[in-house]
Amino acid sequence: MSIYAIADLHLSFGVANKKMDVFGPLWSDHPARVEEAWRLLVKPDDIVLLAGDISWAMTLEEVMPDLTWIDQLPGLKVMIRGNHDYWWPSVKKLETILPASIKAVHHNSFSINDISICGTRFWDSPAYGFASLYNNKRAPYPEEDLKIYRRELGRLEASLKLLNPLATHKIAMTHYPPIGLDLASSEAGELFERYGVSQVVFGHLHFSREEKLYFGHARGVEYHLTACDFLGFKPLKIL
Ligand SMILES: [Fe+2]
Ligand SMILES: [Fe+2]
Repeated sequence: MSIYAIADLHLSFGVANKKMDVFGPLWSDHPARVEEAWRLLVKPDDIVLLAGDISWAMTLEEVMPDLTWIDQLPGLKVMIRGNHDYWWPSVKKLETILPASIKAVHHNSFSINDISICGTRFWDSPAYGFASLYNNKRAPYPEEDLKIYRRELGRLEASLKLLNPLATHKIAMTHYPPIGLDLASSEAGELFERYGVSQVVFGHLHFSREEKLYFGHARGVEYHLTACDFLGFKPLKIL
């Protein structure tokens, strides 16, 4: 069994006028390219981690074609919510609508065989930022975001506590990056280290490979940026 990851699919099969190619030719027909690579790489007994920004849908009705598209691809999919997933309902409701091959992790965990996966959406950190990498410079860290960040940090720890302690591979997913590009110790990073997480999968940062954005290994944890444009629209094998 292999584990792959790809985030920020930003699907829109159920909504009009939300094609990603407005963000440039890089995104042209991207679901077809993801599907082609996915089918080449992923076997039916593999796992694919989807670290948020699944869909542009606003309602359950709108998201169903996207979830159906994900469901028909090979593998068991484990997803978390991104900042754009406005369609995301309560956990109870989600359980009733998710197709068989998709599991959701939302401040909790999912375990299979010797693998345990936890996660939360997370939020921008006051300690590190990526705004300077974008052309449109953002204002300093907004005070009101601190409350959301701290709440999400608590949710992250709550989900880490639910990891199967006997699992060989403990994996955490966040939508927002849990560490800066320099891999200096972060509050989320310290939690991963404390709870024995070896792999962290996140998304949200939209850059192409050419923009030389790298994460990597720090203090026993491997950090993977898996936004699909950064991955060249191919799922990344992490284990
Ligand atoms: Fe995104
Ligand atoms: Fe995002």
